[in-house]
Amino acid sequence: MKTISIIEAKKYVDQQVRIGVWLTNKRSSGKIAFLQLRDGTAYFQGVIVKNEVGEELFHEAKELRLEESFYVTGTIHEDSRSHFGYEIEISNLERVGESEDYPITPKEHGIDFLMDHRHLWLRSKKQFAIMKIRNEMIRATYEFFNQEGFIKIDAPILTGSAPEGTTELFHTKYFDRDAYLSQSGQLYEEAGAMAFNKVFSFGPTFRAEKSKTRRHLIEFWMIEPEMAFMHQEESLEIQEKYVAFLVQGVLNNCQYELKLLDRDPKVLERYTKLPYPRISYDEAIQMLQDSGQFPELKWGVDFGSPEETYLAEHFKLPVFVMNYPKSIKPFYMKPHPTRDDVVICADLLAPEGYGEIIGGSERATDTKYLIEQIKKAGLKQADYEWYLDLRRYGSVPHSGFGLGLERAVTWITGQEHIRESIPFPRLLNRIYP
Ligand code: 4AD
Ligand code: MG
Repeated sequence: MKTISIIEAKKYVDQQVRIGVWLTNKRSSGKIAFLQLRDGTAYFQGVIVKNEVGEELFHEAKELRLEESFYVTGTIHEDSRSHFGYEIEISNLERVGESEDYPITPKEHGIDFLMDHRHLWLRSKKQFAIMKIRNEMIRATYEFFNQEGFIKIDAPILTGSAPEGTTELFHTKYFDRDAYLSQSGQLYEEAGAMAFNKVFSFGPTFRAEKSKTRRHLIEFWMIEPEMAFMHQEESLEIQEKYVAFLVQGVLNNCQYELKLLDRDPKVLERYTKLPYPRISYDEAIQMLQDSGQFPELKWGVDFGSPEETYLAEHFKLPVFVMNYPKSIKPFYMKPHPTRDDVVICADLLAPEGYGEIIGGSERATDTKYLIEQIKKAGLKQADYEWYLDLRRYGSVPHSGFGLGLERAVTWITGQEHIRESIPFPRLLNRIYP
C-alpha cells in the first residue's frame, strides 16, 4: 500500500492509502467520528465508523488529541461538500507523536496570543493558505525574471551605506567598524546591471521604522530588478507585466488556497489586464484636492495610507503615480529633464486599500549631480565612491524598482494586516518567536 500526501488524494480515489497526519479538530457520535486532518499539503476529513473498525480502534480515534500525529490507513472517497473535495474512510490508525493540551483551539483567540504562538499558528488553515500563496509568488518571481533574461545577483545584507536615508538603519558592530543591515539592495544591483545588463535581487531588508501600521514590517523581503540601457517608461512596462504575472500565477496554481481564504478570484482576474493606469504626482494632488476629503493636502507632501487608498480606489486597479517631488525621494533618482522640483520615478499603488507595493525610478547618471545629492542627503561621499565609479566608467541610462513581497502577498491574499504575510514577523514590539 502506498504512503501518500493529502494533496495527492485525487489520484487515489477508491484506493487504499496511508498518510502521515496531524489532528486539527474532531467530532463524534456513538457510531461515527469525523477527524479533521492535515499533513502540511492540504486539509481533509477522515471518517471512522465503529461498525467497520471495531470498538477498540474507534475508541482510540475518539481519544485522539488536537495536533497529535499519526498515520491513517484507509480508502479515498470524493467529498463534494469540502473545499478540498476528498476524504478518507479510515480503517487503521498508527500513533506517532503525542500532544499536550494544544493552546490554539478552534475558538477565537486574540492577536497577541496568536502572535506569541506564531510557531504553532502557522499550522492553521488561513496561515497555510497565505504561506502557500507567498511561495507561489516567489516561484513565479524566479520564473518571470528568468524568462525575461534577468540573472539573480545577491546583494549583501551587511552594508556600510544607506540608500534610502539614514534614519531607519539598524546599526551593528563589524569588528572595529560600523555596519548596517541592508535597507535595500539597489545600489549593488546597479553595479550588477552594469556587469550583467538585467539583474534582480531577492532578499531580506531591514528598516528601523517606528511606524506601527498594518503595512510596515521591520524585516521584509524585497525583489529588486535593475536594468541597463533602460528608461523609466520601459521599466514601468516590466513592473506591470511582473505584477500581472504574480496574480496570474496565484490564479493558476492556488485556487484551493484562495478558497480557504475566501478571496474572490474574479477580483484578482481584473489585475491581470494591462496596462495599469498612470498618473503624475501633480495629477494625483489635483484629484485628492478635488475630492474634498483632504483639505490640508499641499503639493510637496508624501502620501500616507488614506491618500494612496483614495487614488487606487478611484481606478479600482493598481495605479502608477509618477514623478514625485525631489525633496521626498532618495538621492539617486534621475532629475526631471525640464523641471527641477520632481524626479523620474513611480510608485505602484495597489487597489482595495493596500497602498504602495512598488517603488522605483530611473537612476541619475551624472557624477557631479550625484555627489551634490549625496552631500545634500547628509551622506559621506567616501562611502559612495564605489557607487560613483559606476558613473565614471561607461554610465548608461538605467532603471529599477523594488517590490515588497509581503505588501504584495497581503494584497493578493486580501489580508487585513501585513504581519500574516511572513512566517515570523518582526514588528515594532515583537521579535518572539
Ligand atoms: O519604496 P522603497 O523604500 O524603495 C526602495 O527601497 C528602492 N531602493 C527600491 C528600488 O528601486 N530598488 O521600498 C520598496 C518597496 C515598497 O514599495 C514596499 O512595497 C516595500 O518595499 N516596503 C516595505 N514593506 C514592508 N514593510 C516596510 N517597512 C516596507 N518599506 C518598504
Ligand atoms: Mg517607497
